[in-house]
Amino acid sequence: MSPTHLEIARPDDWHLHLRDGAALGSVVADTARQFARAIVMPNLKPPVTTVAQAEDYRRRILACLPADTGFQPLMTLYLTEATTPDEIARAKAGGSVHAVKYYPAGATTNSQAGVRDLANVYPVLEAMERHGLPLLMHGEVTDPAVDIFDREHAFIERHLVPLRERYPGLRMVLEHITTQAAVEFVRAAPAHVGATITAHHLLLNRNAIFEGGIRPHHYCLPVLKRETHRLALVQAATGGDPHFFLGTDSAPHARDAKETACGCAGIYTAHAAIELYAEAFEQAGKLDRLEAFASFHGADFYGLPRNGDRIVLERKPWTVPDALPFADGTCIPLRAGQTIAWALA
Ligand code: NCD
Ligand code: ZN
Repeated sequence: MSPTHLEIARPDDWHLHLRDGAALGSVVADTARQFARAIVMPNLKPPVTTVAQAEDYRRRILACLPADTGFQPLMTLYLTEATTPDEIARAKAGGSVHAVKYYPAGATTNSQAGVRDLANVYPVLEAMERHGLPLLMHGEVTDPAVDIFDREHAFIERHLVPLRERYPGLRMVLEHITTQAAVEFVRAAPAHVGATITAHHLLLNRNAIFEGGIRPHHYCLPVLKRETHRLALVQAATGGDPHFFLGTDSAPHARDAKETACGCAGIYTAHAAIELYAEAFEQAGKLDRLEAFASFHGADFYGLPRNGDRIVLERKPWTVPDALPFADGTCIPLRAGQTIAWALA
């Protein structure tokens, strides 16, 4: 018999885009309702590259939060070729910055200021290894000669394997993994190498981008992959292995920035994140594994306490709105106009 209630320790989101300004005000309550903490991505315009900027951004997030929440934003720095080892030392000393995000220049939304050649940031990586500050990786090559569906696999072979050899003690998270190759790499790595997995990569394969026509709201980076890879991700997430933890990569864009000739990458899932993960785990017959993936593994990886309070999910199908307010426009959430099986009580 399938359960009608599920109680778990309050989860955390280890990869989240909150944006800034009015957009931040539109989305942050969705995350704060479900999660105790979130690792907040720094790919703003301009990017968050210093501890001072991260602390300012953190204050702007706190100022937008509903009064009754204990939600804590955990800040990150955006790695550029101008980042200094001193900034890493400041990050470690300050306590509000929990990781540094690596974007290959040009790989995704607001990544232009990212790294062109990893060799140009070796002194920074060395400082991070020394200070125990995790490197969060957007793991895709940008080489236009590489097929878009193979860019994660190529990144592992070309960059991640050599990086692991060069900095064996560097704490790393391969973010929003999408392939069997990534699952295998992380599974075989030591405990200080982890991976986040999104709800949409657990629930959808690449057919969803083309179902009956082109579906811009199913376009994200790394792009959805074929079914064999989705199944590998489901196995990784539901298998109890502490290398793998929840990271929504919820990435809201205005409707008109998605429904256009050259649409932005990013899927908004924060409106129903834990419910979507519950569906994916239930489909796999592994609801009992949701708590460890959503509430324990990430906290353990980051060396933070597990959350003490709990949330309850009820089997109570509900219909997702067709659109959500987003700054002065709207954002189309995942499952817009369709039902989700679980609801946060
Ligand atoms: C993210 C965004 O919109 O900021 N987009 C996405 O498709 N995931 C950037 C990212 O995480 O790659
Ligand atoms: Zn992201």
